[in-house]
Amino acid sequence: MVYPRIASLKTIGAFRDRLRELDLDLPSDHELQSASESSMAAPIELTSGVIGNRFCILPMEGWDGTTDGQPTDLTRRRWTHFGLSGAKLIWGGEAVAVRNDGRANPNQLMMSDANLSSIESLRQTLVAAHEDHVGSSDDLRVGLQLTHSGRFAKPNDKTKAEPRIAQRNPALDPRLKITDDSTLLSDDDLKRLIDDFIAAAVHARKAGYHFVDIKHCHGYLGHELLSGFDRRGEFGGSFENRTRFLRDIVAGIRAEAVGLELGVRVSVFDFVPFCRGEDRIGVPDKLADPRLVFGGDGTGLGIDLSEPQQLMSLIEKLGIELVCTTAGSPYYNPHLTRPAYFPPSDGYQPPEDPLVGVERHIQATAEIKRMHPNLIIVGSGYSYLQDWLPHVAQAVVRSGMVDIVGLGRMVLSYPELPADVLAGKTLARKKICRTFSDCTTAPRNGIVSGCYPLDPLYKAMPERKALADLKSSMES
Ligand SMILES: Cc1cc2nc3c(=O)[nH]c(=O)nc-3n(C[C@H](O)[C@H](O)[C@H](O)COP(=O)(O)O)c2cc1C
Ligand code: SF4
Repeated sequence: MVYPRIASLKTIGAFRDRLRELDLDLPSDHELQSASESSMAAPIELTSGVIGNRFCILPMEGWDGTTDGQPTDLTRRRWTHFGLSGAKLIWGGEAVAVRNDGRANPNQLMMSDANLSSIESLRQTLVAAHEDHVGSSDDLRVGLQLTHSGRFAKPNDKTKAEPRIAQRNPALDPRLKITDDSTLLSDDDLKRLIDDFIAAAVHARKAGYHFVDIKHCHGYLGHELLSGFDRRGEFGGSFENRTRFLRDIVAGIRAEAVGLELGVRVSVFDFVPFCRGEDRIGVPDKLADPRLVFGGDGTGLGIDLSEPQQLMSLIEKLGIELVCTTAGSPYYNPHLTRPAYFPPSDGYQPPEDPLVGVERHIQATAEIKRMHPNLIIVGSGYSYLQDWLPHVAQAVVRSGMVDIVGLGRMVLSYPELPADVLAGKTLARKKICRTFSDCTTAPRNGIVSGCYPLDPLYKAMPERKALADLKSSMES
């Protein structure tokens, strides 16, 4: 199935016609507001301060830290770009493991005593870039995303999965060669891990971060616990048990890192794992159990937001103001998480026009916002909109469907996009992310992540050739 590329929709009218053809309820403003009146430029109040505008940089790791979990020049360059982007909210920078066995790859950043100062200087680098290129950082909020990669941990060797799981999963276990319960984290393991999250948050506060994100998305451990319907014991089964991990981490941080704000990035809906079907198009995995889906309607392919809404009520009760909504997992249903025209090497051809995925994200987020008007909600999954991203962003913020628009891939190829939109400039078309997925294909094959097609630094790296060879060998 071939879908029209966004780059072929040359006017906002053509874009809207395509939305109508697909029968999608996705608002888009015909005209962009002038810089001084733009809804995207309006500040938003947190109890502890102000976020200066409605753009957020979503967390994006680069598989480019040192093996002991410290940033490298490539990491610092990415954070510099985040700082100069013009966005006033930095959602976590990138996933930072709270301990070694929770790293998604041997180059993931890791919080520890030894790494505290380098992770602090990463924040300073970002803030300095912001002050140099944008202006005052008084209204810039910078968080750090804390994670344990659970099922998708590969802490020691890029080619060796060392999963630590919350529950058995008939579709995902065979993919990771899990055949027994030996990789299952016990309740005591989880209690020790909660202490590690709290210790990492204490470090993040010392390093000057405004908030930490207790990651609950993308199939990693926090998210897998939310869908731990089959797990026995204190952390599985009932909603109360499945959210104990979050509640205990929050209680510990409140006691030991006083003044540190909290955020939660949540996959607010999920489908069963997908795999390649005929013609490489994504289809639901036949082995999947549709019960093990957080935010699912029981079919494995539909959404029921009742539990995610309950989670938002809990988050609000815990005094947390910041939520970032995302969906699914880049490992088992990437078309939900990162709608893309071109799949990553371990993915499948899109089973739907990627615009359908964007709309799904935006509408689920709007439903969460409608039921929880007091939470500050950051949305994700906008990069596929490409040239029309500013038009949709303005419409959804203006109409209160979301508070802040989060940007992922787009800032890898075009870091200054938020600043350009806020200044009323025409977008630099050559920098627009066309969702080639090289930034995902590279790390899936042991190569550092980056925008190889469009970012001049990555374009000139020898790894680009390796990536091109790899892609052509897969196509043949
Ligand atoms: C290269 C790359 C690295 C990513 N790393 C993280 C991460 O560390 N933590 C996280 O929560 N999401 C991560 N994501 C997901 C993004 O934050 C975002 O949800 C996703 O790309 C969809 O937004 P977009 O359409 O603007 O790209 C990553 C995405 C990409 C492409
Ligand atoms: S490699 Fe570049 S163009 Fe491709 S998806 Fe990533 S950021 Fe976008």
